[in-house]
Order: sequence, then structure tokens, then C-alpha cells
Amino acid sequence: MKLWVLVFINALAVALSLSIINFYFQGIIIDSVITFSVSLVTSYLVFYYLIERFVYSKIKLIYKLIHNLKLGKDLKDALGEYVSADPINDVEQEVKEWARDKKTEIDQLKQQEKFRREFLSNISHELKTPLFAIQGYIEVLQDGDIEDPELSKRFLEKASNNVDRLASFIKDLDAISKLESGEIPVQYEKFDLVELINEVNDSLELKSKKYNITLHFKDKYRTPTWVNADREKIRQVLVNLLGNSFKYGKNPGNTYIKTFQLHDQILVEITDDGIGIEEKYLPRLFERFYRTDKSRSRDIGGSGLGLAIVKHIIEAHEQTITVRSTENIGSTFGFTLARA
Ligand SMILES: Nc1ncnc2c1ncn2[C@@H]1O[C@H](COP(=O)(O)OP(=O)(O)OP(=O)(O)O)[C@@H](O)[C@H]1O
Ligand SMILES: [Mg+2]
Repeated sequence: MKLWVLVFINALAVALSLSIINFYFQGIIIDSVITFSVSLVTSYLVFYYLIERFVYSKIKLIYKLIHNLKLGKDLKDALGEYVSADPINDVEQEVKEWARDKKTEIDQLKQQEKFRREFLSNISHELKTPLFAIQGYIEVLQDGDIEDPELSKRFLEKASNNVDRLASFIKDLDAISKLESGEIPVQYEKFDLVELINEVNDSLELKSKKYNITLHFKDKYRTPTWVNADREKIRQVLVNLLGNSFKYGKNPGNTYIKTFQLHDQILVEITDDGIGIEEKYLPRLFERFYRTDKSRSRDIGGSGLGLAIVKHIIEAHEQTITVRSTENIGSTFGFTLARA
């Protein structure tokens, strides 16, 4: 309600009361009309002055404060001072909006805080496990009680495996922090995807043998497929996805790599016939450190950064990555690349 309406209603009530009382005692209409008019004008002026002076101007001030606080310094400078025409209503509105904004902000901060806590605890866990193992093996070897050279060798090998695990974890962590901070931008170049896939397949031959997985990449793909992307980053994507297909594959098992020509994109699909992923895990699969219970319980030794890295790389290319999977049947990870 506008200020003048408020004041007018008040003044009207006073004027009416006075003129009615006047009419009751005097019984002269003209007297009452004069009383009504005079008291209406006087009380209107007095009320207006008092409310404006002692209530409205203070509310206006509060309104202005909240309004400017909400806008922030920069926006306020851009828009200049703004005073509402109806601060009583607006102040309520603005306070409500302001409270809502603050609540979302606080929720976000809490979420981030939770994220940071989890991140730290994940990191320390991933560092602790191999580090303590290494420490254990070294202590045993240092004691010098082991007569059997075979056993010493086995302990050294185990320590060395854990060093490798530690190194690969730090490498992944480094990669993900660089990707997230945008420190290493995508370096686009035109290259033959088929050649890259063959290169990666060759480099993973030993590893696939170790897991008893046969890699299938059909001959019909032997003609060049030109794409525009960051070759080294896409190599990392292929290595991570193929690595997963080995780790979570059956023994013996198969991994298929297929490419499809879309309108102005190439779709790459990597399919395995492994343990698969329960549907409930799919939405969170690409989060950092996320691992399904199955892979945790089998303790295959990943830290859950591989897919987060893959997603970052593909999104930095402004392309998409998808996954479909059926438990105990297998999984298919697909990503797109821009055709050159
Ligand atoms: N091909 C797949 N088949 C079944 N489960 C998979 C497959 N790929 C990924 N997963 C599940 O998704 C989780 C996350 O994968 P991601 O590659 O991010 O981590 P990781 O393989 O456990 O560790 P890292 O790749 O960092 O060594 C895995 O732990 C596994 O549970
Ligand atoms: Mg992985």
C-alpha cells in the first residue's frame, strides 16, 4: 500500500469520528462538515509528516541497504542508487529473496566443504595404503632375517609394485588438478584416429595379455579417420577406457573398439564382456574417486580417477561421453570427437 493511502485512511477515520461527535452534540450539519474538512486536512498533514519522518525514512534506509547488499558493489555502481517507490512492500519482497539467495549460497558452500573434506580423506587413504605396504616390506628386508633370496626378491617386487601404484596415483592426481584448473588447454590438431587406436593397442598388448583379454579392432577400420582433437589427451582417454575394460573384464574376455561416422562427429565405442555395472552406479561413475562396491571388494587396485580424467578431457573438447552397461553382460563406453 502506498504511503499516502495509508495516511489518508487514518486521517479519514479521525475526521469522521470528530465530525460525528460534533454532530451529536451540536446537531448542525455545516459545523460538522467544517470539522470534518479541517480535521481531515490537519491529521493528513500531521500523520504524513510523522510517519514519513519516523517510520518510512527508516524503512527506506533498510530497504536501500538490503537492496544494495543484494546487488553487490559492482552492480550497485553500474545501476546507481535506487530507492523504491513502495519500500514497505518491496522491503518484504527483497528480504525474502535475499534470504533465499543466502540459503542457496550457504548450501553450496556446505556442499563444497563436504567435497573438500571427502577429497582430502580420499587422497590420504590412497596415499596411505601403498606407503604403509612399502614401509612394511622395507622394514622386513632391513631386519636382514630373511635367508631365502627368493623371498627377499618377492618382497622387493611387492614394494616396487606399490611404488608404481603410488606414482600412478600421483600422476592421475596431477592430471586431474591440471585439467580442472585449465592449466593445460586442449591443443587441437588434425590426426588419424585409426593410427592412434592402433598405437594404443600395441602399447597395451602386454597388459591385455596379463588380463587374458583379446582386443578386437576390425580391419575395415584400416582406412584413416581424420579427427580434430588433442592427440595426447585422446590417447589418455583410450588408455583409461581400455584399461578399465581389462580390469573389469572376464578372464578370458574380449574388448571391442568400434568407430562410427556421425554427421560432423566420430563416435568411438569401447565394449567389453566383463562384470558390467549396476544401473544405480551409472550416474556417479564419472565422479572423482568413485568406485562401485564390486570393484572395491575385488580390490583391483584403482583409485577411481580414470573416468573422471576421461570425462574432463572429453568435455574440454566440448564433446560427450556416455556409458551403457548390463551387470554380468558387459559395458560400453562411447565418446564423440569432431571430424576434421
Ligand atoms: N568397463 C567397466 N566395467 C565395469 N565397471 C567399470 C568399468 N569401467 C569402470 N568401471 C567402474 O567404475 C569405477 C570407476 O572407474 P575409474 O576408471 O574412474 O576408476 P578405477 O579404474 O577404479 O581406478 P583408476 O582408473 O583411477 O586406476 C571403477 O572402480 C569400476 O567400479
Ligand atoms: Mg580406471
